[in-house]
Formats: sequence, structure tokens, C-alpha cells
Amino acid sequence: MRTVYWENDSLHLIDQRRLPGSLEIVTLHTHAQVAEAIRNMTVRGAPAIGAAAAFGMALAALESRARSAAPLLLDLESAARTLKASRPTAVNLAWAVDRILRALGNRLEGSSVDGIRQAVINEAQKIADEDVEINKRMGLHGSALLEDGDTIIHHCNTGALAVVDWGTALGVIRTAHEQGKRLHVLVDETRPRLQGARLTAWELEQYGISYEIITDNMAGYFLRSGQAQKVLFGADRVAANGDVANKIGTYMLALAAHDNRVPVYSVAPTSSIDLSLPDGSHIPIEERDPEEVLGLQFHGERVAPLGARARNPAFDVTPARLITAIVTENGIVWPPFDENIR
Ligand code: MRU
Repeated sequence: MRTVYWENDSLHLIDQRRLPGSLEIVTLHTHAQVAEAIRNMTVRGAPAIGAAAAFGMALAALESRARSAAPLLLDLESAARTLKASRPTAVNLAWAVDRILRALGNRLEGSSVDGIRQAVINEAQKIADEDVEINKRMGLHGSALLEDGDTIIHHCNTGALAVVDWGTALGVIRTAHEQGKRLHVLVDETRPRLQGARLTAWELEQYGISYEIITDNMAGYFLRSGQAQKVLFGADRVAANGDVANKIGTYMLALAAHDNRVPVYSVAPTSSIDLSLPDGSHIPIEERDPEEVLGLQFHGERVAPLGARARNPAFDVTPARLITAIVTENGIVWPPFDENIR
């Protein structure tokens, strides 16, 4: 089953807030509902929110009451602004929305409204289908980096749930597992929203891949004691110099791995690369509701005292010098990243 799919002129998403407790599908009919689903993380993961936003544009095309091309384009541009504003860090979102607008670019003159609507739906479907194929290719390239018997520390969720299907970093692990390599995954639980403990563990359970959940602050122990041979994660945006923005905690993990000479691999489609930004300091970092930090319960009781305040940056930037290689669908990029990414 795909995480994001189009059926009966509406968008269907696996509700990632409900997993692993229950597997529920939500059906969305408007682009505003898609923007809200991205904001509240019903759908999450850079490529998944890109594909969802593309289908959000398809919904906007169906919602529009325009009777000619020009007002329809205005409605689509307005929807594009709403969708792009839903989450700032993963560049795949803006990439997918802009790709839809670009695809219309030459078709507008003399096109019927229905023709334009169909073109938007077709392009969104193409983005989703390509995503699956791209993930499989990253899986094949990246699996060459993993050896039989490896223990891998993995951060956040980068599996089928974070994309349309298959996965980025977890897709590499899946491919290597299917090739017969015996792997063990130490799953960072990934505070505060626990994408590792909830989603990655749920996926690994289904794929039959050996894993154990660790709290984020245990990674240094496993790296220093030689119990992990690789570190794998995805990317929400890669700057032109190879700096990688990814889920909060990635930077500390990469630091500890680097200090112990453990290879660090980021797995990301080229749609996550933003050549317009010279380095990671320009990547906008989303700061989410402090309640995501404060709401944690332990033994049924809220952990933080009432009145406590918190900070909640959702991503951090790992400098390129800490990254061994970046796996893309076109192959593995090795340093110097500022030359080789281009
Ligand atoms: O806040 P999220 O859950 O959307 O963050 C997701 C990540 O940081 C992933 O690691 C990233 O999207 C790359 S993997 C597809």
C-alpha cells in the first residue's frame, strides 16, 4: 500500500499520527485539508509531503470554479502559496508544487479548463510514481555500502511512510536485507515525536528485519563501544556544499559517529537538494509547538512541571565534513560535495 495515493478524485493518506496503534486512511478533498494534514503531520517525511502537496494542487484544480485558463492559474498559484507555507524545511514540498506549475507553463495558451485540470492530476501522479522508482534506485546504490553483519544506527523514519513507497535510508536497509545481508538496526526513538520508536520500528517489524529501539542519547555509547558499524539517515534539504538538514538529533549522532570513525550516510533523492543555498546556515528550520516536548508522559504522568516552557526545533543541520557520502538515485556522492553534488 502506498503512503500517499490518488483515487476517485481525492487524496488518500495513511494517518501517521495513529501508527503503530492503528492503520487508518484519511481521505482529503481540498488543498486546504492537504496543507493542514502536512502541518499536523498526518503525512510527514520529505518526499511524502512533496507528493501530498502535488496532489493538493490537483485538488485545487478540481476545486476551482474558473471557466478559463487565466483565473484557474490564479487559483492554482494561491493554492501553491498555501501548500508551500505548511512546513518550511523539506525542500521537496516547494519542489513538487513548483514542478506542477512549471508543467502547466507552456500548456496554458488555448488550453481548456478540463485539459489543465487533467494535466495537473497527471503531473502529480507522475511525481508519485517516480518517487517509488527513485527510492528503489537509491536502495540499489546504497545497499552496496552495507556489509553482511552490519549493525546500523538509524534516525527518524525514512521508510515507506516517509515517501510514496519503499523508503530512503530505510529503503537502502530493505534492499540490502532482500539481497540476503544480515543486518541489525538500532532505531533511535527520535524525540519528541518518536518517529523511530513508532514508525520505523513498525515498518521493520513487517519487513522481518532485526532491530532494537534505543533512546537518542544512547547512540554515542553504541558507537564508542564498537557496536555499530554504520549510521544512516535521510535528508529534508541538502545545501550546495553538502550540509544536510534532517530530523533534530541528526547532528549529535553524526558528531558521535565521526569521532569514532563510523561512516555516516545520508540517503536523499535529488529533489531534496537545494543548489540555491550555498550552505546549511540558509536552510529554514521549523520550530514546532513546545507541547510536543512537554506533553511526554512517564508511568501515566506528565513529565514536565505545569508551567514549564520548552523549545522545539524540528530539524538541525549536519555539516558536510561529518558526512561520509550522500546516496541519491543517480549514484553515491563522495566529497568534495561542493563539486560533486552539482
Ligand atoms: O518531521 P518529519 O517526520 O517530517 O521529519 C522527517 C525526517 O526528518 C526524515 O528523516 C526526512 O524526511 C528524510 S527521509 C524521507
